[in-house]
Amino acid sequence: MPNKIKVGVIGAGAIAEHAHLMGYSKIPELCEIRAICDVNKDRAEEMAAKFGIKEVYTDHKEMLAKADIDAVSVCTPNKFHASQTIDACNAGKHVLCEKPMAINDEECEAMIEAAVRNNVQLMVGFTHRFYNYNQKAKELIAQGVIGKPFMIRVRFAHEGPYISWPAKSNWFFNKELAGGGALLDMGIHALDIMRFLVGDIKDISANLGTLVRTMEVEDNAICTVNFDNGAMGYLEVGWSSKSGILGIEVYGEDGSMVIDYSTPIKIYVDKKKIIGGPGWIELKDCTGGGWDAEMKAFIQSLQNGTPVPVNGFDGLKGVRLAMAAYKSNAEGRKVSL
Ligand SMILES: NC(=O)c1ccc[n+]([C@@H]2O[C@H](COP(=O)([O-])OP(=O)(O)OC[C@H]3O[C@@H](n4cnc5c(N)ncnc54)[C@H](O)[C@@H]3O)[C@@H](O)[C@H]2O)c1
Repeated sequence: MPNKIKVGVIGAGAIAEHAHLMGYSKIPELCEIRAICDVNKDRAEEMAAKFGIKEVYTDHKEMLAKADIDAVSVCTPNKFHASQTIDACNAGKHVLCEKPMAINDEECEAMIEAAVRNNVQLMVGFTHRFYNYNQKAKELIAQGVIGKPFMIRVRFAHEGPYISWPAKSNWFFNKELAGGGALLDMGIHALDIMRFLVGDIKDISANLGTLVRTMEVEDNAICTVNFDNGAMGYLEVGWSSKSGILGIEVYGEDGSMVIDYSTPIKIYVDKKKIIGGPGWIELKDCTGGGWDAEMKAFIQSLQNGTPVPVNGFDGLKGVRLAMAAYKSNAEGRKVSL
């Protein structure tokens, strides 16, 4: 068994607690959480007590200089992702940075450059890739179960930060700290899962609005995209939805697939040759995954010296698409990547 990976976490808010600290703490045989940092000392100490972390910092640079760690999670508001990731890379630490990777293309490029120059790995937290049903969907598409995909639809929407997501600091609605609203928050997940399941996107058209809540950034977004391989897709994301349909549909020349995010999770395919049928089939063996799987995949990549499963270029492509969507909305036209 290779040595345990020693981890530090920058930002001790909601995602740190529920995803990163929780995920790392479930694999004590693979890693050890050595240090935590938050500008809010009380919050850092609260998380240190909850997860048994010995070292607490309020300045990430001090943590990077003093703590005996191999890797960090960057779990701060979006504005700080680039500078903190670059500082960590320059200190020789591998990084798992939360999504969106940063708030513009140039920052993402600088982060990738810092990781390459320092010979460290840079992963981006596109959690939806790690849900078992999305892994299964990708596998089935690759097996040709639905034939060549020509259309994908994604809907990820909920009531938004502070209602359905218990953020610990007041930044999600601030343009300067967040960089954008529902599109940069949930839309970036939707754009990434479209790339994951269907392929790279060549152009995007967007319609953004602040429809329900009072805030500087958009609370709803619709985008349509064209893929390099000729497929088309559309997404809807929002921060103001009560209950509704959540999930992904992929339509291929030989069948359809519905990845229903409600409970229980179901995937339906309608081609009988490979997985049985005919008609719609409920796959019951593909729940689970997500944050725990994401943290484990990061740690295992570092231990094994293999590439992380979602890298800086994936993060950059997501941010590039989101920035193109903002441009499309502002200029009222389709934007090519
Ligand atoms: N992958 C996912 O599914 C997912 C879900 C939710 C949030 N996120 C992302 O996680 C990140 C954090 O979101 P959150 O919901 O945890 O927010 P949060 O407000 O709960 O936590 C942010 C924490 O960062 C701290 N902080 C602020 N500036 C700092 C600095 N300069 N140095 C150190 N600490 C600092 C704050 O005090 C706060 O405790 C965001 O980028 C968000 O987009 C990802």
